[in-house]
Amino acid sequence: MLVRRACSEDIEEIIEIEKSRGLGWGSYEDVFSNCFASLWVCKSEHVLGFISFRFLADEVEILSFAVRKEVEGTGVGKKLFYSCVSEAVMKNAKSIWLEVRKSNQRAIDFYLSQGFKLVKVRKEFYSFPPEDALLMKLDLTI
Ligand SMILES: CC(C)(COP(=O)(O)OP(=O)(O)OC[C@H]1O[C@@H](n2cnc3c(N)ncnc32)[C@H](O)[C@@H]1OP(=O)(O)O)[C@@H](O)C(=O)NCCC(=O)NCCS
Repeated sequence: MLVRRACSEDIEEIIEIEKSRGLGWGSYEDVFSNCFASLWVCKSEHVLGFISFRFLADEVEILSFAVRKEVEGTGVGKKLFYSCVSEAVMKNAKSIWLEVRKSNQRAIDFYLSQGFKLVKVRKEFYSFPPEDALLMKLDLTI
């Protein structure tokens, strides 16, 4: 199992994982030419999971993050998340931000276990289905 930057051959499997995990799938056309965007995969024979994020001044925003259902709870998510933290620290980011559906307790527990704090609730942030989002932040300066 290897965690590395994604390449164009990984995109099909990344979108397949996004769809299978009920996430709105992202647009990855410019991810390899945009120096403010990052996409990492955890791969064995197949892509097991991925994380995408972008740099906005001294902040990082996680855009999409998922692992295959079959490997959930086996440490793949943590490995991917550490890649995000390493790159964020290397580029002097001060914080990592994300939004997560209020009902997504599994992901919320994951983020809390990694040190994220709830900042606020964004009312009716999501559609299809409509739902509030929790805005969460990890402070990298402490
Ligand atoms: C969120 C997600 C990426 C986490 O990935 P994962 O590979 O399952 O997570 P890991 O196995 O690496 O990490 C598990 C950690 O989460 C924490 N955790 C909290 N609740 C847990 C649970 N019910 N089961 C397992 N781990 C849990 C633990 O601290 C655990 O760390 P530990 O092993 O040191 O105790 C994964 O659940 C997922 O793909 N969910 C669907 C897509 C999604 O919701 N994405 C987020 C959108 S904002």
